[in-house]
Amino acid sequence: MTFKLKHSRIAGTGSHLPEKVLTNTDLEKMVETSDQWIQERTGIRERHIAAQGETTVDLAVPAARRAMQAAGVEPDEIDFIIFGTCTPDQVFPNCGALLQDRLGIRNCPAVSVEAACSSFIYALSIADKFIRLGEAKCALVVGAETLSRIVDWTDRSTAILFGDGAGAVVLKPADEPGILSTHLHTDGFYKDLLYCPVGPSKGFHADESGRMPLFIHMAGNEVFKIAVKSLGSIVDETLAANGLDKSAIDWLVPHQANIRIIQATAKKLDMPMEKVIVTVAEHGNTSSASVPLALDAGVRDGRIKRGQLLLLEAFGGGLTWGSALIRY
Ligand code: COA
Repeated sequence: MTFKLKHSRIAGTGSHLPEKVLTNTDLEKMVETSDQWIQERTGIRERHIAAQGETTVDLAVPAARRAMQAAGVEPDEIDFIIFGTCTPDQVFPNCGALLQDRLGIRNCPAVSVEAACSSFIYALSIADKFIRLGEAKCALVVGAETLSRIVDWTDRSTAILFGDGAGAVVLKPADEPGILSTHLHTDGFYKDLLYCPVGPSKGFHADESGRMPLFIHMAGNEVFKIAVKSLGSIVDETLAANGLDKSAIDWLVPHQANIRIIQATAKKLDMPMEKVIVTVAEHGNTSSASVPLALDAGVRDGRIKRGQLLLLEAFGGGLTWGSALIRY
């Protein structure tokens, strides 16, 4: 008797954004910038910011509930939780465990993964393996962030980019894929291009300038170039792994960092922008929440339909990048 691996499929999606909106015009009052500069260079118009005391897990709870509702799944059916974030509520318990408690789920494995803006793709890839190996039958996969907590609001080169939010999907087993393949990369050689340099082990000491370095540091221009190159090559890698031509893709669901990076990836795929889910104008870069937020937007407004082929991709600090090819 041969053992046939299962596949995983997305049974439901959900998302949540904090109430407060910070527009480019608001930012003009905080740093020397302009709405025109931000829109031209990034495509961002506004971003959502968590209220004081509102945490990453607070944002994840409604996103997860919506995904579970869309999948028709009760809390006691979830048997694996994986939570992508680089802005956890606390060092431990991990955000997966905190979410598990808030959702009233008892006794299933719950873990968080950190790969900066690629965390959700990493989480999705791991959950896919759990389902395919029969280790899980109903996985909750989350990407959620409160990036606003680690943004230096006096630094115009980064303050304009980031926002807060949460997205989630429920994965279930299926005889047909579902998730066709996932592809993950990290190149730690580039660790100094995009980083937040504090942690319990390294310490929370002031830097040479006397400031606490609890902020995102980024060499924007270099990150931009590597992002365009890496995402271009992961598109080729993903299509080649599945023996598919780029014309097969129905929707590109990209990481929402910068409209110019998104346009470059769409161009690589010969895709018109009408076939790309773009939320960067309203969300900014929400790191690991950005792909599941965009996915949920496309599903809920009816653009993404069952049976269509989706290419998800993300890029972030590490440097990390990844993709997932999905028959929705
Ligand atoms: N408003 C106005 N001017 C600004 C500005 C702002 N918010 N931020 C930077 N500038 C200025 C710079 O000081 C510089 O001025 P100078 O020419 O007098 O020195 C000029 O604009 C150009 O700066 P540069 O950094 O070269 O701009 P850019 O076109 O590369 O755009 C980013 C900057 C950050 C928008 C862009 O590099 C980017 O999006 N990078 C990738 C970021 C990313 O995706 N990060 C996350 C990955 S997950």
